[in-house]
Amino acid sequence: MPARALAQMPERFENLQVLPKDIPRDTLLRIMRGFTTALGVRCEFCHVPREGAAPGPNGQPQMNFAADDKPEKKNARVMMRMVENINGEQLPKLVDRAGPPVNVTCITCHRGLARPMTLDMVLSRTIETAGVDSAIRQYRGLRTTSAMSGRYDFSEATVNDLAQRLASQGKTAEALALLAANEEFYPGSGQIDFAMGEIHRQRGERDQAIVSYRAALVKQPQNRQARARLTELGVTP
Ligand code: HEC
Ligand code: HEC
Repeated sequence: MPARALAQMPERFENLQVLPKDIPRDTLLRIMRGFTTALGVRCEFCHVPREGAAPGPNGQPQMNFAADDKPEKKNARVMMRMVENINGEQLPKLVDRAGPPVNVTCITCHRGLARPMTLDMVLSRTIETAGVDSAIRQYRGLRTTSAMSGRYDFSEATVNDLAQRLASQGKTAEALALLAANEEFYPGSGQIDFAMGEIHRQRGERDQAIVSYRAALVKQPQNRQARARLTELGVTP
């Protein structure tokens, strides 16, 4: 533990309601550090500065860690109890649990996000509130900024599945736009062409459907579904 961080920790804790009151300082600091990593935030996400206190020697505000002013801190307590319940009450009920047992921690769900959402959820919300072009811009941005962070699943299937769901709700234009964007990142994927073929077929766009199914077959010569669709449409694969 860096000595400086530990030095900023109060000697005694005044307001622990979930953690043991006599928890060692370095253990508490390790847990708090774990929260910041898991949620991708800083201590200030849950804690407030001490009112009227001069900044510390390094210019950092002095913190009032015991105060419960922020809803985020109260929510974190709910989460701590939830995690305790999952690990202590629910997981032990599993039949034939393999050893050593796997427990849930904050990062299991949060993966660096304060509000853990899958990429599918993030993009769906943007499509609803701001339209598909915004969602595609957001997708490109997220791929650039957090491709390696593990926050989101950027594999091909995420966008393909979302597009299929949108198409099944009749939002075929949005679905096609998403698939076209996905194709830029997965140019070798016959699945994307096939999915586009399905949507053109749904829209009654025979010629475009044929182009897409053929493109799928070029990339995946053994794609039986694409072959069957072409036969259905009366053309030789
Ligand atoms: C996601 C929210 C969250 C973040 C981020 C967070 N904490 Fe906490 N912290 C809590 C909660 C909740 C408690 C109270 C736990 C309890 O009631 O048992 C707490 C308690 C504390 C306490 C004990 C205060 C007392 O006297 O009762 C200290 C000290 C503390 N945190 C330091 C830190 C530091 C340092 C950081 C940054 C490295 C940090 N915390 C980041 C949620 C957070
Ligand atoms: C089983 C999955 C899961 C686990 C494990 C989990 N969380 Fe959460 N957490 C969520 C979800 C889902 C939300 C968002 C709920 C919502 O906003 O509708 C959330 C929200 C939060 C929020 C509120 C964020 C905000 O912007 O107000 C905090 C703080 C938080 N979690 C802290 C934690 C901490 C600390 C841990 C570990 C002790 C933890 N969570 C473990 C699923 C989880």
